[in-house]
Amino acid sequence: MPINSQTALIVGASRGIGLALTQQLLTDSATERVCATFRQEDTAEDLLAINDRRLEVVKVDITSANSLKALAGELQALQHRPDVVINCAGILHEGDLQPEKSLGQCREESLSRLFLVNSIGPLMLAKSTLPLMPRNRRCHFAVLSAMVGSIGDNRLGGWYGYRASKAALNQFMKTLAIEYRRSYPQLCVTAIHPGTTDSDLSRPFQANVKPGKLYTPAETARRILGVLGDRQAEDSGEFVNWDGNHIPW
Ligand SMILES: NC(=O)c1ccc[n+]([C@@H]2O[C@H](COP(=O)([O-])OP(=O)(O)OC[C@H]3O[C@@H](n4cnc5c(N)ncnc54)[C@H](OP(=O)(O)O)[C@@H]3O)[C@@H](O)[C@H]2O)c1
Repeated sequence: MPINSQTALIVGASRGIGLALTQQLLTDSATERVCATFRQEDTAEDLLAINDRRLEVVKVDITSANSLKALAGELQALQHRPDVVINCAGILHEGDLQPEKSLGQCREESLSRLFLVNSIGPLMLAKSTLPLMPRNRRCHFAVLSAMVGSIGDNRLGGWYGYRASKAALNQFMKTLAIEYRRSYPQLCVTAIHPGTTDSDLSRPFQANVKPGKLYTPAETARRILGVLGDRQAEDSGEFVNWDGNHIPW
């Protein structure tokens, strides 16, 4: 069932899956408002070109406490109480930072950066935005995790930092779900693997993807909204695949 969101917040919406989620939500006439965030104008042209009175765009870097504080202030000023928050911000590579093939390639600086963007940033986003989310109706806090963050499913090794940062993200979401069970009884927290999607993040690593297993951002966005739409508060704290099935921790 497609998600029924009146007021959504999509973080990391400049390109890739976040942009497609924003576009998809805006095709639904039931969506009243979408707040979509970008980090820099250079990569956000498509988002900034969307002309829809229901869309607000806000500049956010999830690694900056000040930026997250400003986001919360902006949402309050707009009286925007999101019932759906989806964090799409994440990195696999960034400049010199590339996924490690071996222990010898692991660098403290890159590992710290991966944890800051992929694990700590989304948790701090939850800290800033959960107080603004409604307590009296169904709502979702979801993050884009990755299958390679599954410890149980790790058969290939490699990608130390990315894998571990997504595993840490999953643990953060599980812990958050447990804490908020009482105070937000209608909240569903989800870590979701979006499936291998054609984006700047996956582009350098697409050569080994099996035919038919690389999805467009639009297909992925539709699936994510479908999976979230089927999830209830009692499902909170799970790690799920794009088809809705559970992934082992
Ligand atoms: N694509 C896949 O196959 C795949 C598979 C598994 C999981 N995922 C996960 O899905 C999520 C989205 O991936 P994607 O494929 O859409 O990647 P993408 O096209 O590279 O988009 C990444 C988004 O994250 C934003 N971002 C990066 N660092 C940020 C920061 N510090 N603060 C705020 N925003 C930041 C980027 O903004 P800028 O434009 O400013 O850089 C961009 O909007 C990621 O978490 C990724 O790990 C993707």
